[in-house]
Amino acid sequence: MIFVLTGAGISRESGLETFRDKDGLWTKVKIEDVATPRAFRKNPKMVLEFYNQRRREVTDGHIKPNEAHLALARLEDALEKAPKARGSKLPGLFLVTQNVDNLHELAGSRQVCHMHGRLNAAKCDHCGARFDWVKDLGVEDVCPDCQTKGLLRPDVVWFEEVPYYLEEIQEMLYQSDTFVSIGTSGVVYPAASYLTVAKNRGLQTVEINLAPTVSASYFDRTFYGPATKAVPAWVDEVLKAP
Ligand code: APR
Repeated sequence: MIFVLTGAGISRESGLETFRDKDGLWTKVKIEDVATPRAFRKNPKMVLEFYNQRRREVTDGHIKPNEAHLALARLEDALEKAPKARGSKLPGLFLVTQNVDNLHELAGSRQVCHMHGRLNAAKCDHCGARFDWVKDLGVEDVCPDCQTKGLLRPDVVWFEEVPYYLEEIQEMLYQSDTFVSIGTSGVVYPAASYLTVAKNRGLQTVEINLAPTVSASYFDRTFYGPATKAVPAWVDEVLKAP
């Protein structure tokens, strides 16, 4: 099974900003102002507006999946159709994304594990209920479950919070034979730990990025260039392999 971890770089050529590049989001707003539970308690209006702007970007139809997203959807499809090892119930591809956009889904990927949550979803900080949400979120909004007002927030995992699906992700990584890191700086934990786990377990490791990351030397294979070129090149190589 191929375990793919994607980051903001895969969505860059669709027009979405990354975080740590020279023009990235965290060069324009401070993490502590918009991406921590404390920020939400201190200034909910500002936090909600920051995510409203990002949600509008992905829901107003201007932002489309790019060739990299489409190549991963093509790979998922081809591997699902490929003959499975006798008795294997594992998928051919397990896709984990740190991204909160829905571009993998719009490209046709059916299995997408959003470990940092989703822009198109809301969560109640009072009762914990989570639901799809495509409109703006405001301090007047009421939780559809517990009717509490003012505690609805984006269902996005903030710093100091625990990402989603960690056990399932670790289980799938343990069952994989290849680890592929696409468009991520690989500096935010726990996603940043997956390369070490993969190395320790003898997986083949592949880095696909615009340029070598700080962990570049730990990867067995590397494909550098814009994701819209490098990801299809890697997918074509996988699909041609005997
Ligand atoms: N093609 C491929 N890679 C690209 C491209 C591109 N066109 N443009 C940028 N990149 C790469 C950069 O080289 C960098 O390695 O994408 C990566 C973006 O890194 P970050 O901005 O740190 O984004 P990411 O790794 O996804 O951040 C992880 O940090 O702030 C949190 O929750 C947030 O999910 C995010 C997490």
